[in-house]
Amino acid sequence: MSKQTQTRRKTVKDIAAAKGKTPIVCLTAYDAPMASLLDPHADLLLVGDSVGMVVHGLPSTVGVTMEMMILHGQAVMRGAEQALVVVDMPFGSYETNNDDAFLNAARIMKETGCQAVKIESGTYAAGQIAHLVERGVPVMGHIGLRPQAVNVDGGFRAKGRTNAERDRVIAEARASADAGAFAIVIEGVAEDLAAEITAEVSCPTVGIGASAACDGQVLVTHDMLGLFDWTPKFVRRYADLSKTISEAAAAYADDVRTRRFPGDAETYALRKPDPEQR
Ligand code: KIV
Repeated sequence: MSKQTQTRRKTVKDIAAAKGKTPIVCLTAYDAPMASLLDPHADLLLVGDSVGMVVHGLPSTVGVTMEMMILHGQAVMRGAEQALVVVDMPFGSYETNNDDAFLNAARIMKETGCQAVKIESGTYAAGQIAHLVERGVPVMGHIGLRPQAVNVDGGFRAKGRTNAERDRVIAEARASADAGAFAIVIEGVAEDLAAEITAEVSCPTVGIGASAACDGQVLVTHDMLGLFDWTPKFVRRYADLSKTISEAAAAYADDVRTRRFPGDAETYALRKPDPEQR
């Protein structure tokens, strides 16, 4: 039997063990080719429900379905070899009760092969997190700005700017950690709050718009690559792909219209007869 070399995939234990030691690198991914490009550089690839806005053009993540998360989760799993793959549980798939949460989380794990799920974890979700973890589903929490609550919040606003809100975000962090989350995304909070939470909880925190005080960072890959005209203040652009793509599309259109494409190099020619093959 031939000996196959298989890349060891990171586990939730590896991510948890990085707390306070090595910054955790996370990016979102939604399809196989992008996942395979990001995989060598990331500890964790998140199939975020941001896919609804970034790829499907929805106004928020509220319209994202289980089917969408499963389809994109399957694609990412085909492209990612070594990063831990975490799939978001969409709005409406876990809030009702523990049984719904488990059935939907188990379906996501079975049908995609991902290693964990993420839940936007208001304090109410602590029960669901504990229920899932006890039954073999690793859970990443998500506190602070919770995009699935956009209709209650009236927009995507940073959290923890009043004392009451601060207390609420700290309570969310404690509840998620105590319930057994292996890591917690903190979104849209000021540095001192992120630092306080990171110092208090035993699991790693992964920040998005939550300062360098977190144990790791996550960005929406399309933002980081400069695919949109507008990006939030906390995004650093590492490329300007919207310009590259627009210029490429314009050059292609020009070549087609002026009949410069396809040229000889891109055209099949009649094969010369091979005298050996009769
Ligand atoms: O859906 C998503 O991409 C996320 C990140 C912003 C953390 O939850």
